[in-house]
Amino acid sequence: MKYHKLVENAVKPTGFWGKLMIRSMNKGHHALTDWALGYADIAIGCRALDVGCGGGRTVQKLCDAVGSGKVYGIDYSPLCVEKASKLNHKNILCGKADIRQASVSALPFDSDSFDLVTAVETYYFWPDKLGDLKEILRVLRSGGRLVLVFEMLEDKTNPNKWKPVEQKLGIKAVSEEGVKEMLLRAGYQNIRTHIREENGWLCATAEKE
Ligand SMILES: C[S@@+](CC[C@H](N)C(=O)[O-])C[C@H]1O[C@@H](n2cnc3c(N)ncnc32)[C@H](O)[C@@H]1O
Repeated sequence: MKYHKLVENAVKPTGFWGKLMIRSMNKGHHALTDWALGYADIAIGCRALDVGCGGGRTVQKLCDAVGSGKVYGIDYSPLCVEKASKLNHKNILCGKADIRQASVSALPFDSDSFDLVTAVETYYFWPDKLGDLKEILRVLRSGGRLVLVFEMLEDKTNPNKWKPVEQKLGIKAVSEEGVKEMLLRAGYQNIRTHIREENGWLCATAEKE
């Protein structure tokens, strides 16, 4: 019962179980995010956006990495915006971070305005994956990079690995080839994938021409 309530709140955290889920995501995605940010090529002074920012830990990590730069976070869950803002309140106060409620499908930002966009463990939930990848491409600057991060990677040796979560949440684990193809179709260039074999994690990076 507790497990089910918690897992349900990965989609759009809300209420008591949402708060617990946010705490658990901040903790549980810490190592995954650190590993993937190693492929982000973060430049001092860059302008970064974390899509589906959840409890805001990735925003916090990006703030530490961008120096004089600025970091935005968006999430469509008001509770996530509240919790991520609380975690990043010092950076928000000094103008280094900005967290907003928004959907990945309609980003409240100008075109060509970000050097880096990250999206950790959120792609599965997006309503229109191709359109949403194009929306991210719109806000990236020429040469800007998207970093997509996944824990739910299909395992050919264990096809049922993600079945309980997939059935519970109505989502699908990704494949390396499937992610590459979507990025290509959305118009990205220099698409690269990295797999951390010991955990089965996937990080895909792609750039705007
Ligand atoms: C599993 S959580 C991951 C949160 C965070 N990135 C992390 O790694 O801890 C998925 C997040 O994506 C957000 N999300 C899902 N669909 C979204 C959408 N269409 N637009 C914006 N945020 C979305 C959810 O509200 C949730 O906070």
